[in-house]
Amino acid sequence: MIYVTRREVFSAAHRLYNPRLSDEENEKLFGKCSNPNWHGHNYVLEVVVKGEIDSLTGYVIDLKELKRIIRENIIEKLDHKNLNLDVDFLKGKIPSGENLVVAIWNQLEGKITNGKLHAIKLFETENNYFEYRGEEN
Ligand code: NI
Repeated sequence: MIYVTRREVFSAAHRLYNPRLSDEENEKLFGKCSNPNWHGHNYVLEVVVKGEIDSLTGYVIDLKELKRIIRENIIEKLDHKNLNLDVDFLKGKIPSGENLVVAIWNQLEGKITNGKLHAIKLFETENNYFEYRGEEN
């Protein structure tokens, strides 16, 4: 089994905020991350696809194709957006790294043309990243 990774970057604003809680409770729970006027991150996304090598191409998946799939389904929807307000597939979710990485997986699963989606890694800062491998792993 071979693992192929495509890296993409996007910048987005968000606020960690649970509408079921008061502003005071949100502030206590999330601190600076709940700033009402938003804050931003330069996210780094890694998408890992696993599979066998195709004897015709020598590829697991054509990386140009993987790049296109990630850009169309994720980057165009998230880059320079407000994750709380602008993104259809994040509606009703607190835009934490954990929720983001699962939502990105759900957007990409089923759209990978060759091989199988293995993992999504999302770096929110240099020191913090989130990884999801689906429900089976
Ligand atoms: Ni943040």
